Amino acid sequence: MKVFVTRTLPGKALDRLRERGLEVEVHEGLLLPREELLRKVEGAVGLIPTVEDRIDAEVMDRAPGLRVIACYSVGVDHVDLEAAQARGIRVTHTPGVLTEATADLTWALLLAVARRVVEGVDYARAGRWQAWHPELLLGLDLGGLTLGLVGMGRIGQAVAKRAEAFGMRVVYTSRTPKPLPYPYLPLEDLLATADIVSLHAPLTPETYRLMDRERLFAMKPGSILLNTARGGLVDTEALVEALGGHLFGAGLDVTDPEPLPQGHPLYALPNAVITPHMGSAGRRTRERMAEMAVENLLAVLEGREPPNPVG
Ligand code: DGY
Repeated sequence: MKVFVTRTLPGKALDRLRERGLEVEVHEGLLLPREELLRKVEGAVGLIPTVEDRIDAEVMDRAPGLRVIACYSVGVDHVDLEAAQARGIRVTHTPGVLTEATADLTWALLLAVARRVVEGVDYARAGRWQAWHPELLLGLDLGGLTLGLVGMGRIGQAVAKRAEAFGMRVVYTSRTPKPLPYPYLPLEDLLATADIVSLHAPLTPETYRLMDRERLFAMKPGSILLNTARGGLVDTEALVEALGGHLFGAGLDVTDPEPLPQGHPLYALPNAVITPHMGSAGRRTRERMAEMAVENLLAVLEGREPPNPVG
């Protein structure tokens, strides 16, 4: 019985599959071309894909014996869930384990943008640091500002907790209000109120380009947009425009398109801090994600209910 894993994974989780007598094929490169994915999935009963692999009906049909897609991610927008359900394929994911790591990275971006850290590093490296000056690289003081969270699941709440330590006020919007110690606001009110807007919603047909041109320009002048969720939540072209004067800056760990191609206008903007989708990239977190994906996969193959089913 073959399991195809679309990238090497940190830690030793895959050994568990081998110990159970499964044949484990791991793609070792950085990129997995579509043609290769289609070829390698043939004959697999289990698949462990990353967020970069589009797992649609075509992939599933290349592996008629496929029983489980154990996503190495919490987000599952890269999997056609209807197609999986129609074929009786279980889909699982890795919720919870990456909450703190992603909240940390959100804060890394927030601090980097608000306090112009990357500009400062570039300035020093370029040999331009010749004197201290009262007006050099002035940024935003976070204490007293309002952080507006769009999506208030585990990650949104972990980001909110950190904001308390910085003396910020937190407001949020989500599909429904939750019993939390922060005011719930409709999205439009949140955009008009928040100094920093941070996105933590899943990407679905309903949330695609949630931050369109109109909403980006409805944000407060001089505010900051953070996105550590999914690139598709934001209209990238409109964001480039908004960063030209309306917004103070943006911190983006995810982009649309992703990866963001070399030479993209966003890279030229000093007020855009872009990281390569590394929200969950703590070693312990990534090892734990591998363990969860393996446990989910084994559960399905062994006829048990997986701990983290999707849907
Ligand atoms: C996820 O899990 O959905 C992240 O985007 C990658 O870890």
